[in-house]
Formats: sequence, structure tokens, C-alpha cells
Amino acid sequence: MNFDADPRLTVARGYDLIGDRYSSWAGESRDAVRTKYERVLIGGSPAGSGLLDLGCGNGIPTTRRLARHFHTTAVEISSLQAMRARSNLPTARVICADMTRLQFGPESFDAVSAFFSIIHVPRDEQGALVDSIAAWLRPGGVMVATMMSRSLDTGWEDDWLGAPMYWSGNGVEKNVGLIEGAGLMAESAEVESPDSESFLWVVARKPR
Ligand SMILES: C[S@@+](CC[C@H](N)C(=O)[O-])C[C@H]1O[C@@H](n2cnc3c(N)ncnc32)[C@H](O)[C@@H]1O
Repeated sequence: MNFDADPRLTVARGYDLIGDRYSSWAGESRDAVRTKYERVLIGGSPAGSGLLDLGCGNGIPTTRRLARHFHTTAVEISSLQAMRARSNLPTARVICADMTRLQFGPESFDAVSAFFSIIHVPRDEQGALVDSIAAWLRPGGVMVATMMSRSLDTGWEDDWLGAPMYWSGNGVEKNVGLIEGAGLMAESAEVESPDSESFLWVVARKPR
């Protein structure tokens, strides 16, 4: 199998193809862990707060639930997933873009969520992304993100749910280091295993 030189292309094309299949697969097995961290976000911010959701997929189920509480901006690299998200999230602003190339002003959001998405960003770019997230958050704002729980430089699969796919990430200690290095306070960093895969779930807050 020949993979794209830029793994982002593999990810974007992959989710163009498998978006609906991913949604039903991940919706069932991962619902308890999703709900747990959606509650952390919702419980920590008053209704109408501004949320940036990175890698929203087709918006179901998480972004749609969050968008009932938050004034939501959702970002998605796959053009077909972004299109699906626009129809599933009528009240949200959906931007089709690479989350590592976004430009928002400092202190633009009260909360940032990234459920199962940063794991597709090359790991040597994840530190700069976390720095940007820290800058976009208002003081007191919260980030909830799924990250790799083990060190993985480049993980390719030629048939994941029917399409080639790419993952990358750092282990727990390095991820917590990136969060704290960005000036965020890690409130929790737990490895959760809702299915055959384990991921690190980080809840981090920007100091007031
Ligand atoms: C595993 S899915 C998770 C979708 C949704 N957040 C959820 O919880 O089910 C990962 C999503 O992140 C998107 N994604 C991956 N890399 C991205 C990037 N660099 N910029 C924006 N979106 C990205 C993928 O296209 C995909 O839709």
C-alpha cells in the first residue's frame, strides 16, 4: 500500500470514505467515555459559552450534544465529514480545515474539545497545537482532549474500517509535559479503554 506523503491527506480521504461507518462503530462502544467527558465540559462552563471542537467528524454524537449547551465552532479536515457535520449541526459554525493551521485570536474560546482527533496529527506537531489551544482559551477555560497513551511515531493501517488510516502520538508522560509546558494545568490525565484501544484523556485548565 502506498500512503500519501502528507498523512493528513490519508486521514482526510479516509474519513471522506468511512465517516458514517466510523460513526456507528464508535458511537456504540465509546458512548460511556464520551458522555463522561462531555459532562466535564458542560459542567465546567455556563450555557452559551464558546466551544471550539477540533476534528468533529460528522458531529454525531458528541458535537451535537455539546452544541446544545455551547455556542460551537467545529473544525474538520475531511470535506465530506465537514459537509455531514453542517447538516447535523445546524446551530454550529463548521470550518473545513486542518486543526494545526487554524488562526484564532488569543482568548477566543471558553472550552476546547478534541475527542479522538489529535491522535491523527503527526506527533512532532502536537506540541505546537497544544500551545495554540492554550492561547485560544480564555483564562479559566478548559480543554478536554483524547491523546495517545503510548508512544507511536507513525502508525499506518491500510484497511481501517474500509480505508487507509494514520495515527501518531506521545506517551502519557510526554503528553502531560506538553500540556503543562503550554501553561495549562492538568486536572486529570486518565487512560481509558472503552474497546480494544486505550487512550489518554486529558482535562486541563488555563489559569485565571
Ligand atoms: C476518530 S474521528 C473522531 C470524530 C469525533 N470527534 C468523535 O468523537 O467521534 C477523528 C476526526 O478528526 C478529524 N481530523 C483528523 N486530523 C485532523 C486535522 N489535522 N484537522 C482537523 N480534523 C482532523 C478526522 O477527519 C476525523 O473526522
